[in-house]
Amino acid sequence: MQVDLAQAIALIKRGEVVAIPTETVYGLAADARNEDALKQIYAIKQRPANNPLIVHLASREHVLDWAAEFSPLAQKLAAAFWPGPLTVVLPAKDAVSSIVRAGEPTVALRVPAHPIAQQVLQQTGLGLAAPSANKYTQLSPTTAQHVANGLGNVVPVLEGGTCEVGIESTIVAVDEGQWRLLRLGMIDEAQIASVVGVQAALPTLQDDKSLPKAPGQNLLHYSPKTPAQLFTSRATLLQASEKSDCAVLLLGEGQAANGKTFNLPNDPVGFAEQLYGTLHQMDALAVATLLIEAPPQQPEWLAIHDRLTRASYKLN
Ligand code: TXA
Ligand code: MG
Repeated sequence: MQVDLAQAIALIKRGEVVAIPTETVYGLAADARNEDALKQIYAIKQRPANNPLIVHLASREHVLDWAAEFSPLAQKLAAAFWPGPLTVVLPAKDAVSSIVRAGEPTVALRVPAHPIAQQVLQQTGLGLAAPSANKYTQLSPTTAQHVANGLGNVVPVLEGGTCEVGIESTIVAVDEGQWRLLRLGMIDEAQIASVVGVQAALPTLQDDKSLPKAPGQNLLHYSPKTPAQLFTSRATLLQASEKSDCAVLLLGEGQAANGKTFNLPNDPVGFAEQLYGTLHQMDALAVATLLIEAPPQQPEWLAIHDRLTRASYKLN
């Protein structure tokens, strides 16, 4: 159900949940201090209660309403990357609802850049809890139509065009002068290190096998409904395509003899922007498998690798 800006603001102030655009993906937004509204988010997403939500803020001025401390390192990150596709996990104030942080001692904060998200934040004057506006483990939405397709027409959606970044924000945990990446995104480790002046004090969470699984780092995530398979060799992919009922995703130009072919730009920014939209389209074809060409193993492609690995997890 489409709503306009004024309706979205009124609904959110009343404690309802509304899907809103951000520059990364659409978020399912509600007042982060309203526990009934937070429960609705979990119910609509069918998300386990142990997976915390990001609180979106209009500006960094609001950080200390939620975080117990805003350390110099975290302030440098905020100054460099907000508003934008970066989420910072900080020690939470006691007053922050345990529902929004799923019982964790920390809270995840992000100042989004999308002008419509900014208007909603500024005009409600609230911190908005907003996970991606999709059911648990499924593909994130990058258009209002994806939200309606995934969640049904009963969820109010505020139209804001196609999300420009196209994949979810980078998540960095900051504590006592150390930082670690919890989720890869288009702001990469090198960019963060150059701003804060220290290499990641700890390895990226998913590479650290010694740690228990963090909330939300479930490998089966960001998945199309159709089983997907990732190929490092185009020749092997094309061979596989000859024998299957498939759709094919190629990096740059090219064409499979069998199966509808989708071509994504051979640059990480362009690829990320179109990735989920393309996967949604491929999924809608109702073929037996999606065959996906893996991008090169270079740092600027790491976040895309992460999403593709998760998208293809069922088969690999
Ligand atoms: O780009 C984005 O981040 C989008 C837009 C809407 O802002 N949001 C998003 O939210 O991707 P969600 O809920 O789908 O993913 C947030 C991730 C989850 O994996 C969750 O476990 C993690 O952030 N997270 C949230 N709070 C956390 C915390 N206190 N500590 C560790 N991880 C946290
Ligand atoms: Mg999500």
